Amino acid sequence: MGEQRWAEVDGYLTELFGGADPALAAAQEAGRAAGMPDISVSAEQGRLLRVLARAVHARAILEVGTLAGFSTIWLARSLPPGGRLISLEAVPLHAEVARSNLARAGLADVAEVRLGPAAESMAELDATGAGPFDLVFIDADKPGYPEYLSWALKLTRPGSLIVADNVVRGGALADLDNTEPNVAGVRQYLELVAAEPRLTATALQTVGAKGWDGLSIAVVEAG
Ligand code: SAH
Ligand code: DHB
Ligand code: MG
Repeated sequence: MGEQRWAEVDGYLTELFGGADPALAAAQEAGRAAGMPDISVSAEQGRLLRVLARAVHARAILEVGTLAGFSTIWLARSLPPGGRLISLEAVPLHAEVARSNLARAGLADVAEVRLGPAAESMAELDATGAGPFDLVFIDADKPGYPEYLSWALKLTRPGSLIVADNVVRGGALADLDNTEPNVAGVRQYLELVAAEPRLTATALQTVGAKGWDGLSIAVVEAG
């Protein structure tokens, strides 16, 4: 029992809900071949992103933290015809591998990877009136989460979703003696989300192929 069984159940569920997907498998492999870390969302977390995007009829999606574009592919595939996705990535190699993975998945015209520090790109999106986005997925550097939340609130509308990955971090979230910057970043993010009157929100722990972690899901309210 334990971690191995968590991964087995993820394998079972992925087989049940979709089976092998050539474009997603190729994207993972290209990231691995380029020496990138294996820290994308799991297949079932990707499918949750898709369910959420479909539930709010998302036509415009913003992702913060692209890596090889695994979650990007899940989200971009959720869009209706004419929908668009912008994904923000600071590392040139990651952006390059992600663009090639998106092209292989047939999503080059739907999903755009913007290179640069996410906070700068979000400021520019706001300045150029690019929003509102129907779903924002925050998954870049964890100390940046609080700042990404404040931009996300500017770039969304009532009814939009703001989703954040990796907020539980093997349980470190609730160990208040743990002030490591990644843990402190997600903890402050959740405190801000919880205190924000414009958000109705929760965070859920997850176990599976990616170990023990969790996602925060918030819906933007009017006001
Ligand atoms: N969403 C991806 C995983 C993202 S991993 C998936 O699930 O498939 C986090 C990514 O954020 C990495 O590629 C990292 O280079 C990027 N990143 C880190 N700091 C950043 C910053 N300040 N601005 C933009 N991207 C950043
Ligand atoms: C890390 C980042 C992620 O986005 C993730 O899904 C898992 C781990 C990290 O920086 O450790
Ligand atoms: Mg993540």
